Amino acid sequence: MLRWSLLLLCLLLPCSEQQYLENATRIMESTPVIDGHNDLPWQLLKMFNNRLGLPESNLTQLNGTHTNIPKLNTGHVGGQFWSVYVPCETQNKDAVKRTLEQIDVVHRMCQLYPDTFSCVVDSAGIEAAFRNKKVASLIGVEGGHSIDSSLGVLRTFYMLGVRYMTLTHSCNTPWADNWLVDTAEESPVHHGLSAFGKTVVEEMNRLGMIVDLAHVSVATMRMVLNISKAPVIFSHSSAYGLCPHRRNVPDDVLRMVAAKEGLVMVNFYNDYVTCSDKANLSDVANHMDYVKRVAGYQFVGFGGDYDGVTRLPTGLEDVSTYPALVAELLRRGWTEQEVRAALAGNLLRVFKKVEEVKVSLQGTAPLEEPIALEELSGECRTSYGYTDTTTGAGPAPFLPAALVLALPLLSTLLS
Ligand SMILES: *[C@@H]1O[C@H](CO)[C@@H](O)[C@H](O)[C@H]1NC(C)=O
Ligand SMILES: *[C@@H]1O[C@H](CO)[C@@H](O)[C@H](O)[C@H]1NC(C)=O
Ligand SMILES: *[C@@H]1O[C@H](CO)[C@@H](O)[C@H](O)[C@H]1NC(C)=O
Ligand SMILES: *[C@@H]1O[C@H](CO)[C@@H](O)[C@H](O)[C@H]1NC(C)=O
Ligand SMILES: *[C@@H]1O[C@H](CO)[C@@H](O)[C@H](O)[C@H]1NC(C)=O
Ligand SMILES: [Zn+2]
Repeated sequence: MLRWSLLLLCLLLPCSEQQYLENATRIMESTPVIDGHNDLPWQLLKMFNNRLGLPESNLTQLNGTHTNIPKLNTGHVGGQFWSVYVPCETQNKDAVKRTLEQIDVVHRMCQLYPDTFSCVVDSAGIEAAFRNKKVASLIGVEGGHSIDSSLGVLRTFYMLGVRYMTLTHSCNTPWADNWLVDTAEESPVHHGLSAFGKTVVEEMNRLGMIVDLAHVSVATMRMVLNISKAPVIFSHSSAYGLCPHRRNVPDDVLRMVAAKEGLVMVNFYNDYVTCSDKANLSDVANHMDYVKRVAGYQFVGFGGDYDGVTRLPTGLEDVSTYPALVAELLRRGWTEQEVRAALAGNLLRVFKKVEEVKVSLQGTAPLEEPIALEELSGECRTSYGYTDTTTGAGPAPFLPAALVLALPLLSTLLS
């Protein structure tokens, strides 16, 4: 009797499908997903001006976003790089201030919801959060414009917990070219990185901050893959071979990422998945299969871009849906080991290697050479430091003698 009803059930519902989902969930109980890029902090700025205490910004009930606490739990999210994105419009304006505010809102998320989030800054912290069933919360800066061409700001961001920086968003910085130069919407300026851009990457290696190549131009990708001492990631990019969008990763770069033991975390945005506004879960699985085939399963991960995009594939509507995608990978013959690697193992491997490189460079002094003043633009910036160091002894020798003689008088008048 039981056997017959089971058989009937399996005829009505595809019972192997049910098993794939059960197996996906079982795997994710011990290996939850670490996602490379989520823009919830940007939504918190836009919707609430970062006021987390409002009744309507309670992350347990939050709706109208792809991300909230119940959805994170259903989705078995165990690690998230929260993006502290600020638009390119802030470049040469208030980029640093706004980025600091987005870092602050992530810290406050962890403080307000300690049962859900645990802000961590290293691979051991991620593993501890897994054991404690918390969402390991990490910070990624999305776009080099956020450091305003300053190594001091970069280092300070590291101290505040930033563990990756995407070298550009969708604009060139004074030291790196972005993907729009490959669509001819912007002109190439650096043909990859400038000399200062190479210094930024070197300093990130020294600090132990992961270099993220999402959003950069192909020349920038190649140059960084050539010079970085540590593996690099694409925190939210898909495969160019399946959808020739310039936000995606070309095959030769996929192979370079594999050679460097880095990671491509596949973006779910319809436009990058199918190069159209329509996509579904199996289209995203195609990208995971593709990166696995061209680079290897050790170099693929998840970078949903939730709350940063306006369209998502059918079946992947919000952060609760990762298990469905994992079930699809199992259905396609991914082994449990391959799935665990893509979920978390690959990111942990990259992060540990970045930490090892940091340790190996511990005897190296912080890089101090500032960007050349003439490489900066915009009117909001003062130039303290530049004038004195270029003249060596300060401005005095260049002052006309008459002015020098008049100085004591002037200071009397001014005081
Ligand atoms: C689910 O996992 C079990 C245990 O590893 C395995 O025996 C079974 O074949 C899996 N089911 C499917 C549909 O893959
Ligand atoms: C969404 O949240 C708001 C504020 O908490 C609430 O008033 C509204 O009823 C919610 N909508 C749904 C569909 O749950
Ligand atoms: C959010 O709402 C829940 C009730 O659903 C409440 O228990 C919790 O204290 C609220 N959290 C904050 C930070 O307001
Ligand atoms: C990579 O580095 C090597 C040696 O420094 C150099 O010859 C080559 O041109 C570089 N390639 C790129 C794409 O930067
Ligand atoms: C996803 O869309 C493709 C067409 O792009 C279609 O062939 C496929 O059946 C769809 N899959 C699902 C699960 O809906
Ligand atoms: Zn992005």
